Amino acid sequence: MRLPLPLVLLLLLPPCALSSQPPRRSYSTHDYYVLEHLPLGDASLDECVSRLGLEVIEQVGELQNHWLVRRSKPSPELFARTTADPILELLQSFRQQANAGSIHARFEDARLPRRVSSSIKYLEPQALRQRVKRAPPPVHPGNEEVKSNAREVASRLGIQDPTFTKQWHLVNDEYPEHMMNVSGLWEEGITGRGIISALVDDGLDYNSDDLAANFYAEGSYDFNDHEDLPTPKLFDDHHGTRCAGQIGAVKNDVCGIGIAYDSQVAGIRILSGPISDVDEAASLNYGYHNTSIYSCSWGPADDGRSMEAPGYLIQKAVVNGIQNGRGGKGSVYVFASGNGAQHDDQCNFDGYTNSIYSITVAAVDFKGLHPYYSEACAANMVVAYSSGSGNNIVTTDVGKNKCATTHGGTSAAAPNAVGVFALALSVRPELSWRDLQHLCVRTAEMINPDDPDWETTAAGRPFSYKYGFGRLDGYSYVKAAQAWELVKPQAWIEIQPIQIENGTMDILGTMSGGAPITAQGVKNTVTITQDMLVQNNFEKLEHITVKVWISHTRRGDVEVELVSPNSIKSVLAARRRYDSANTGFPGWRFMTVKHWDENPVGDWTIQVNDQGSEGEFGNFLGWSMTLWGSTVDASKAKLYEVPVLETLLPSPQEETVITTSSLALTTATKSFPKPTSHLPTDHGSIEGEATMPAFTNKPGTATPTAQDDAAAPTESIPSESSTPTPDEGWFPDMANLVSSQKWVFGAIGAVIVFGLSAGIFFWRRAVNRRRRAQYSTLSRGDDVPMSSIARNGGVSGQGTKELYDAFGEVSDDDDDVDEETGLTGGRPQDRSPGGLGFHSGFLDDDDPESARATQATYRDEPEDVDHLRSHSTLPSRIPSPSSSGSGDGSWEHASQQLR
Ligand SMILES: *[C@@H]1O[C@H](CO)[C@@H](O)[C@H](O)[C@H]1NC(C)=O
Ligand SMILES: *[C@@H]1O[C@H](CO)[C@@H](O)[C@H](O)[C@H]1NC(C)=O
Ligand SMILES: *[C@@H]1O[C@H](CO)[C@@H](O)[C@H](O)[C@H]1NC(C)=O
Repeated sequence: MRLPLPLVLLLLLPPCALSSQPPRRSYSTHDYYVLEHLPLGDASLDECVSRLGLEVIEQVGELQNHWLVRRSKPSPELFARTTADPILELLQSFRQQANAGSIHARFEDARLPRRVSSSIKYLEPQALRQRVKRAPPPVHPGNEEVKSNAREVASRLGIQDPTFTKQWHLVNDEYPEHMMNVSGLWEEGITGRGIISALVDDGLDYNSDDLAANFYAEGSYDFNDHEDLPTPKLFDDHHGTRCAGQIGAVKNDVCGIGIAYDSQVAGIRILSGPISDVDEAASLNYGYHNTSIYSCSWGPADDGRSMEAPGYLIQKAVVNGIQNGRGGKGSVYVFASGNGAQHDDQCNFDGYTNSIYSITVAAVDFKGLHPYYSEACAANMVVAYSSGSGNNIVTTDVGKNKCATTHGGTSAAAPNAVGVFALALSVRPELSWRDLQHLCVRTAEMINPDDPDWETTAAGRPFSYKYGFGRLDGYSYVKAAQAWELVKPQAWIEIQPIQIENGTMDILGTMSGGAPITAQGVKNTVTITQDMLVQNNFEKLEHITVKVWISHTRRGDVEVELVSPNSIKSVLAARRRYDSANTGFPGWRFMTVKHWDENPVGDWTIQVNDQGSEGEFGNFLGWSMTLWGSTVDASKAKLYEVPVLETLLPSPQEETVITTSSLALTTATKSFPKPTSHLPTDHGSIEGEATMPAFTNKPGTATPTAQDDAAAPTESIPSESSTPTPDEGWFPDMANLVSSQKWVFGAIGAVIVFGLSAGIFFWRRAVNRRRRAQYSTLSRGDDVPMSSIARNGGVSGQGTKELYDAFGEVSDDDDDVDEETGLTGGRPQDRSPGGLGFHSGFLDDDDPESARATQATYRDEPEDVDHLRSHSTLPSRIPSPSSSGSGDGSWEHASQQLR
C-alpha cells in the first residue's frame, strides 16, 4: 500500500511530537470531529479529510491513526435546529454510493466514495462535557489536638512540617489501627523516589512551596485552557492541589507531607470547564511513558440517577494506557468510588469506577467506619482513609504556604491509595497494572468484622460492597509487593449475548422482546466448562463483567444479581430511589471483583428483579458475560481490542469479521453530570457506621413514592446550599439543559452508524476478495444495516445538534478565550458566518514541521477544486437540509464547487 510521503513522515513522527502542543480549541467557530483513519485503506488521511471538507488539527493524544479534525461552523441562518450533521451525512452518502456501486458489475462510479469510506473507520462529532469533582465543600476545621505518637514519628524522621501531627491518615494516635500505615516504610527509606503520579483534576499549584520541588512539569498539561502548565485559575480550583499534596507534598517546613514525599506529581487539568472526549482521551495518556499512575477523583454525577460510561475514544485511550503506558507495564488508573451513597448511588453505575482497568477506592473515616457518602458496589476494590466521624484530611492547599484542613470525600481516599502504589512501584517498578490489583486483593485488611456487609468469597477472602476487600495498609502492601511474583498476561472468556425470549436492541437503541420482570424476577443461566478455560488459555479468574439489556419504566427499581457456581452472589445493581429514568439498561456493563480467584467452572445465574411498584414494569432482554483472568501459557497471550457493536442484541452475525477489523462505537448510555459534588458540608462531622449492609432493599419492600422523587438530589441541593459552594462548581443549571436523553441515542447512533457501515464495508470487501464475482451475495449482506443507517441519519444529526445547543448556552465562547471561557460566554447563534471549503493542501507539504505550522492558518477558500472536479462521482447534491438555504458559504457552496 502506497502512502503519500508527507503522511509517511507524519506517521513516523513520535506521537508525542504531534501531541505535545495541542492547539487551543474554538468550539464557537468550528465543529470538531474525531476521525479514525485506516492507514491500509485506499485513501490517505489527507484525501479523506479534504473530501469531507475538514482539516486535520492533530493526533488524538497517544492514539495512533485517530485524528482531531474540524471545519468552520457554517453561518447559523443556514441551519435550522433540526439540521442533520452535514459531515456525517456526506460520509453516509459516500458509503451508500460505495455500496451501491459494488453490486454492479462496474466499480467506476463508486471508486471515490469507496476509497474514502473504506479508509474511515470511525467519525464522531465532539461535544463539550463537564466532569464532577468528588470533593467535599470546606467544613469546620478538624481536631486541633497535638498527637504524641505522630510527634515521635516526626522526630525519628526529622519531619518539620507543621501540620504533620494533624495528618491522622499518616499517623493516627487516637485510632492507631486506622491510618495508611506508611511511616514504617519511610523509616526503611521507601519514599516513592522516581515514581510520577498525575493528578487528572482541576490544576496543581506548582508554585506552592509544598509541591514545587516534586512537581513534574513535562507530564503536566492544561486541557481546559490548552496551556503547558496546569495553573489553578478558578476560585474553586483547589481540588487537584489538595490531592497532589496527599501524594507528593515535600518533606520540608510547609504544611504536611505526602505519602510518597519523594515522588513526583504532575497536574493534568480537565475539570475546570467542559472538555470533549478527544481531550479527555488525550489526558488519560498524557506523558504515559514516564507517568505511572493517573489519580482520578471525578466522574459522572453522584446523584443516584446518572448512569454514564466512557465513550469509545476514552475506552481506547484507557486500553492504550494499560497496554502501552509505562513501557508496556500499563498505566495505573485509580478512581474514587463516588460520594453519592446517601442518594443510593453505586459505583457500578459509573463506567469509570466499574472498569476492570481502574482500581476503585472507596472511603473509610478515621475511626475506620463507613462514611455515609462513600459509594458501595461489587467493583470496589479497597478502601482508604478520608473524612468522617469528626475529622478531615489535612493536606496542601493552593497558595505559596497554605494548608487545607477540610479535604475529604472519596476524592481524598483515591490519592491516599495512589501514594501507596507509588511507594510500591518505587521498589518494584516492573509490577504491571494487574499486579497492583492482585496486591490490593491479597493484602487489604478486614475492618469492622461485625459489619453485616461482609461475606466470604469462594477464594476464602472477606469482601464487602462498602469496603471491597478491606482497608489498604501501606506497610502490608509494599512488603507484599517486594515479594510478589508477577502475574501472567491477561486472558478472557467471552460469552456472547444471550437473548431472552427474543429480546433485541437495534442500532438506535430500540429494545423489544424479552421476558417481563415478574414478582419472582427473571433468571437465566450459562455454563462455563473446563473446555472453555482450555480453549481460551484461561487459568485464574480475576474480574467479571456482565452486560445487560433491560427495558424498564423506572430504572431505579431494577435489581441485578449474579450467582456463581459456588453460590457466591454479586449484587450488580441495587435499588436507586431517585433514578426514575425510563431508558433501562441498553447494554450496560457491570463489573464485579467478588469472584477473584474463584473456580469459574459451572453454572452462572443472573437474576433480574424489580420493586413490583404499581405501574412500573420492564423486560429482561438479554445479557452477556466476560471472565477476565490470567493466561495458562503466557506466550499465547493476546492483546485485547476494544470491541465493536457491543450494545447490539443479538450480536451481529459477522461480528468476528468486524472485530478483527476493530471497528468502533461507544458503550451504553451517556449523560452529562450535574456539577454538584453531592457531598453535603457535614461529610467530615457525621459519625460513620459499620452496622448496615450496603444494599438493604428487598424486592417489593420499598415502593418509591412521589415524595422520594420530590426529594431527589437535583431538587434538594439548591435548598441545602443556595449559593454554590466552591466544590459544587459553576454549572448548576447545566443538567437541566440536557434533561432530555433523546440526543444521547442520537449521538450514539451517529457513531454506531459509521462504525457499523464501515464494518459491513470491510466485511463485504473481505468477502468480495474471496469470491470476486458473486456480487449478489454481497448485496444481501447489506440490506439490514443500510436501512438502519438510512433511518438513523436524520435522528443522529438532530441529536447532535441538540447536544450542541444545550451546551451552547453555557459553553459557547469567543475566538480568543476559547474553551476556558466555555463557562462565561455567548450564545450558539454567535457562530461565525463564513463558508466551508476544502483544504487539502497542507499535508502535501514535504516538511512536516511546516505542515504543522500551516495548521494555524486554515484557509476557507477551496483551493484544490480542479482536483476535486476530476471525480465526477461525488454527490450531485449534498443530502443536507442546508442545501435548501442560501448558496454561499455552506455545504451548498461546497457541492457547487464540486460540480
Ligand atoms: C503497620 O505497619 C507496621 C510496621 O510498620 C506493622 O507492624 C503493623 O502491623 C501495621 N499496622 C496494621 C494495622 O496493619
Ligand atoms: C521521560 O523520561 C526520560 C528520562 O528521564 C526523558 O529523557 C524523556 O524526555 C521523558 N519523556 C517525556 C515524554 O517526558
Ligand atoms: C422467538 O422467535 C421464534 C422465531 O421467530 C419464534 O418461533 C418463537 O415463538 C419466539 N419466542 C417468543 C418467546 O416469542
